[in-house]
Amino acid sequence: MAEPPAAETGPGTPERGSGAPAAAAKILFVGDIVGGIGRDTLLECLPVLRERHAPSFVVVNGENAAGGLGITPKNAEQLFAAGVDAITLGNHTYHRREIYPYLDSQDRILRPANFLRSQPGHGTTVVERDGLRLGVVNISGNLYLRAGRSAFTEIESALGSLGEVDHVLVDVHAEATSEKVAMGWHLDGRVTAVVGTHTHVPTADGRVLPGGTAYITDVGMTGPRGGVIGVKREQAIESLLTQMPVRFETSQEDPWLMGVLISCSERLRADSIEQLLMPRPS
Ligand SMILES: [Fe+2]
Ligand SMILES: [Fe+2]
Repeated sequence: MAEPPAAETGPGTPERGSGAPAAAAKILFVGDIVGGIGRDTLLECLPVLRERHAPSFVVVNGENAAGGLGITPKNAEQLFAAGVDAITLGNHTYHRREIYPYLDSQDRILRPANFLRSQPGHGTTVVERDGLRLGVVNISGNLYLRAGRSAFTEIESALGSLGEVDHVLVDVHAEATSEKVAMGWHLDGRVTAVVGTHTHVPTADGRVLPGGTAYITDVGMTGPRGGVIGVKREQAIESLLTQMPVRFETSQEDPWLMGVLISCSERLRADSIEQLLMPRPS
């Protein structure tokens, strides 16, 4: 088992106001991209958001990019070609078999760090732009989700593996709000941002915690608001009414991009977190 980060070298230091070098950055994080309609929405919204906010880094959660479940190498390449710096995933990581070798060969796509070590892929990466280094960590909650190891113990070795970075973004992919809130407090003052994903519904609690970590319980999804968390609503309702198996398809109705913009001026600290909720332009 990897050692937890040493207190003096991990991304938990230095303390605020200790003369840390400035590290101005804007991090755009986009919530779960659902199906082709979600990918198209991202591709159309991204130029507008770049023009408006000039983000230094763009990170997206892509666990639903392939027809609503999982992601293929082709989907991932499309997102990287659009300028996405890193892709995080979640409980749908392994839905498409063709992604398995890609998860091992592509540094910038992450599955939760607290999955079993024997499962394909890795949970951390460091991306660099304009001399700034952003560490990205993907971690899964344990309640109602299949993650083989504890989020709260494995986050330490994940952070410790990043080395010297200017900022750290943690995507905590979890069902339970309590786990996400707790992870925010647990990492407050140690990372730049803790952003929640998985429920596909944005929460209204975005804020910078007292230690300087930007936090939101759920960013929401990038996909059709006209469905039930991405699925055609009539199919979701039929399933609930009949309690019988129903084939789910991705809704095509009312696509929006849902994300957050985290602005920073100091290493490992956020100045603000702004919710971005944007309808597909066309
Ligand atoms: Fe999702
Ligand atoms: Fe999920």
